Amino acid sequence: MKIFTTRQLPDPVLKTLKIEGATVNLWQEKRELTKEEFIENAKDAEGLFVMGGFKITEEIIHALPDLKVISLMSVGYDNVDIKAVTKRGIGVGHTPDVLSQATADTAFLLMLATSRKAFYHHKRILDGNWKFFDPMANVGIDIRNKTLGVFGLGNIGFEMAKLCKNAYGMDVIYHNRSNNEQAEKELGAKKVSFDELLEQSDIISVHANLTPETKEVFNASAFAKMKPNAIFVNAGRGGIHNETDLRAALENETIWGAGLDVTNPEPMDKDNPLLSMPNVSVLPHIGSAVKETREAMLELATRNILAGLKGEKLPACVNPEVYNK
Ligand code: 8YV
Repeated sequence: MKIFTTRQLPDPVLKTLKIEGATVNLWQEKRELTKEEFIENAKDAEGLFVMGGFKITEEIIHALPDLKVISLMSVGYDNVDIKAVTKRGIGVGHTPDVLSQATADTAFLLMLATSRKAFYHHKRILDGNWKFFDPMANVGIDIRNKTLGVFGLGNIGFEMAKLCKNAYGMDVIYHNRSNNEQAEKELGAKKVSFDELLEQSDIISVHANLTPETKEVFNASAFAKMKPNAIFVNAGRGGIHNETDLRAALENETIWGAGLDVTNPEPMDKDNPLLSMPNVSVLPHIGSAVKETREAMLELATRNILAGLKGEKLPACVNPEVYNK
């Protein structure tokens, strides 16, 4: 059972894989590898342990004849060509549920930080600009009893809605393909059209997958429909918003602020104008970055890869149809 992994794996994970009889080829360098390096290192792999957003394209799949399973240490799988992989009968594992609370916490943090311009005020201190008290300078907005609009109410969106309802008495509306009955029952959440979500929300929080349907749906025309005091939060994928349009919407005061855990591209350039806007909070994609959560993700990803290598159904599988044949 040969595994290739794109990051150093912690010792307990390596130990488990070894006990199960797997050999692991590790990418040790602290930089993203190129496509050629990936193929060279993974060419005889039966399993891929993928951490980070490395793109697994059809070309890569074709170059790995022995591949049986891809285990992602993420809930999102937009970096994998699922169609090509499924066609080859390769199972893809991911890590849902275990990261929902940590990721929702990050969205909540960004919402609150943005509403109080917290990152900007912190920077004022660093810049030596904590001067005299000016009562109305750079004040925030109150988020109590406002309307939260969740774009993509799955497990992470549900946790975010719970936090906002319990902490600030927010009304919850959401836009999804399917109804989320649990959220409707427990939180009184209401499913609305995309336009209604834009028009009625005081805070929009994005938790959807990046797909051809969600790609850049938050563009100039969407921002134009939002309230001028609205805060846009994205802890899903940077590709769901158009960054140029977001910047323009903030500059023109079409919307009030933005909190981003995800950007497009990643990493964000240090000179990106969004970083110097008082109403914008940006984090470097740390949604699930909590010790307990990352350990749970590694544990599930390990179970996925081992199951795939043994020809068993993966505990958390993106494309279970490969095991139904
Ligand atoms: C990961 C994420 O940390 O789960 C996801 O989809 O975006 C993050 O939790 C990241 O993708 C690295 O694998």
